[in-house]
Amino acid sequence: MYTDIIEINEENIDAQKIAEAGEIIRRGGLVAFPTETVYGLGGDALNPDSSKKIYAAKGRPSDNPLIVHIASLKDMEKIVEAVTDEAAKLAEAFWPGPLTMILKKAQCVPFETTGGLDTVAIRMPVHRTARAFIEAAGGYVAAPSANLSGKPSPTCAKYVIQDMDGRIDMIIDGGDAGIGLESTIVDLSSDVPMLLRPGYITLEQLRDVLGDVDIDKTIMDGNCKDRPKAPGMRYRHYAPKGDLKIVVGDLQRVVDTINDLTKQACSQKKRVGVIATDETQGLYCAQSVKSIGSRTDEDTIAHRLYTILREFDDEDIEIIYSESFDVSGVGQAIMNRLLKAAGHQIINLEG
Ligand code: TXA
Ligand code: MG
Repeated sequence: MYTDIIEINEENIDAQKIAEAGEIIRRGGLVAFPTETVYGLGGDALNPDSSKKIYAAKGRPSDNPLIVHIASLKDMEKIVEAVTDEAAKLAEAFWPGPLTMILKKAQCVPFETTGGLDTVAIRMPVHRTARAFIEAAGGYVAAPSANLSGKPSPTCAKYVIQDMDGRIDMIIDGGDAGIGLESTIVDLSSDVPMLLRPGYITLEQLRDVLGDVDIDKTIMDGNCKDRPKAPGMRYRHYAPKGDLKIVVGDLQRVVDTINDLTKQACSQKKRVGVIATDETQGLYCAQSVKSIGSRTDEDTIAHRLYTILREFDDEDIEIIYSESFDVSGVGQAIMNRLLKAAGHQIINLEG
């Protein structure tokens, strides 16, 4: 399949191009588009065949439901059983933005889109190109992240093209995704709201608005025997090709340990990469040392994480060691993705 690659600038949106992209969705095709979190792979959320095509293009299991993206709050009513008070409060506080809510679905949402569930995940992005595109597409765009299943989510068009060229109708290049991690997901379909996937909107922020919010225990605990409530969190995910391990402990010991492990790996002719920080970047001896940002700047760490994992893939790095980060605020989302990328392999130097 020929994939049309177009550029759209969020500050000066080309109405003609957006109309063409929308038309592709209305006709049942697929278009990848930028959002403030990561790039999405869009299809008509109310068309079962479009959702099937999304699963095929991603190579994703079809029991892993898709998020329905809307561009205006009133469009939410049509696709849910009821807009609950909690949903209204969260929308008021965080939409448009990087928050996804799960509610009981209305009949018009096909099971192909919800992976057979009777709930639907909904997000209203703030990215201008995304919103214009969703409107042009008819208001309801189902979109998982625009990566091949199992790979890190793409935060720029280059990696969407790497994964999706030849598999979908169009890719809209809108530059870098600002946040760089997928949206926060909160389930409002049962009694107490539950955080299923941490993101840029933090647990503390959700609790400020809703009071009680539970957290899916599997988010940070690799040993937890429960099944994650979000089907997509069950798979090894966001993973680089190289074997990634996270080293936890006092920073100086972390640096020393990673350097020892690097020397051992190099003696076996392995290519080693290190995820360092601005504070430690100069201290490592590996072939490829990348700073993810300053330890005091979690926004930059979030923004750089997937790009760094992709860059190690590009460099055929076989073993990756990463420093570990604070788990408060956005750090919870950063560590959740890093732990998943590492398949929860941790080298713990504490205690
Ligand atoms: O930031 C984002 O959310 C990006 C952009 C494109 O908006 N999208 C994204 O979609 O990350 P995806 O498909 O890669 O992740 C959606 C997650 C999956 O883990 C899926 O299992 C979960 O949401 N999910 C979707 N619908 C659900 C439902 N009804 N119940 C529980 N989990 C659901
Ligand atoms: Mg994804």
